[in-house]
Amino acid sequence: MNQQTPIVELRHVTKAYGNVNAVDDITFKVFSGEVVGLIGDNGAGKSTLIKLLSGVHAPSSGEIFIRGEKVTQWDSARARSSGIETVYQDRALAVQQTIVRNIFMGREIQNRFGWINTKKQHEEANRLMREIGFTSKVFDPDSVVATLSGGERQGVAIARALYFDAELIILDEPTTALSLTETQKVFRFVENVRQKGCSIVFIDHNIHHVYDIADRFVIVDRGRIVVEATKAEIGSADRLIDDMRSIARTGHAAE
Ligand SMILES: Nc1ncnc2c1ncn2[C@@H]1O[C@H](COP(=O)(O)OP(=O)(O)OP(=O)(O)O)[C@@H](O)[C@H]1O
Ligand SMILES: [Mg+2]
Repeated sequence: MNQQTPIVELRHVTKAYGNVNAVDDITFKVFSGEVVGLIGDNGAGKSTLIKLLSGVHAPSSGEIFIRGEKVTQWDSARARSSGIETVYQDRALAVQQTIVRNIFMGREIQNRFGWINTKKQHEEANRLMREIGFTSKVFDPDSVVATLSGGERQGVAIARALYFDAELIILDEPTTALSLTETQKVFRFVENVRQKGCSIVFIDHNIHHVYDIADRFVIVDRGRIVVEATKAEIGSADRLIDDMRSIARTGHAAE
């Protein structure tokens, strides 16, 4: 087992909407530098789980630990200051603005007179985009986001998260609605971010995608974790697909 202290741990956490437990007594940890693939059917509770991680929701019951310390007040600001950044598809960016503005929006780099330090922002944007694996012509930080492809937009959002010293970046369905080429770009970004030691939790409905990129898999069903396994334990994407089918039929993983 992993002996490290997790960056974040949900311990017996439940989130109820009215009398529905969207997340039901889940214990979930994220360790440093790992990519966790979160899977499960529509309505399984995946988005609710990441909203708990990112502080959008506080638990109805249960506890949250950040680097081993129990948190009493949990909200988005607290999650951010704990190094947890979330990238929400589409909602994340101001598409009529440039890449550089999007990366720094709301948290601009200022010089000592309080003016925006555009030169520094450009340098930083360039550095970040190289680091996460931007290679194409769109590399110019002055490009308007609307001119970028879907995968590249995700990259901008990831660069933004990285700039704010994220130790854990959460992506809710980053590749939905993307072509295969664009999906590959997002995965390259994710891989580079992991190389930097940052952890990733991501949701994807395509099991093959999840299998390729994650180190560990968590399958959620009706608010509960039904499978939690490393890639080595699972062994193949087909096995994950078998588990998903079996869960849909019987409520538990394949034998
Ligand atoms: N704001 C809300 N108010 C009431 N019920 C909600 C709310 N958000 C989610 N739910 C319910 O909680 C359950 C889990 O929803 P959630 O969005 O977490 O699922 P999901 O696994 O992300 O599904 P999908 O794959 O469709 O995105 C569902 O039954 C859903 O209807
Ligand atoms: Mg969802």
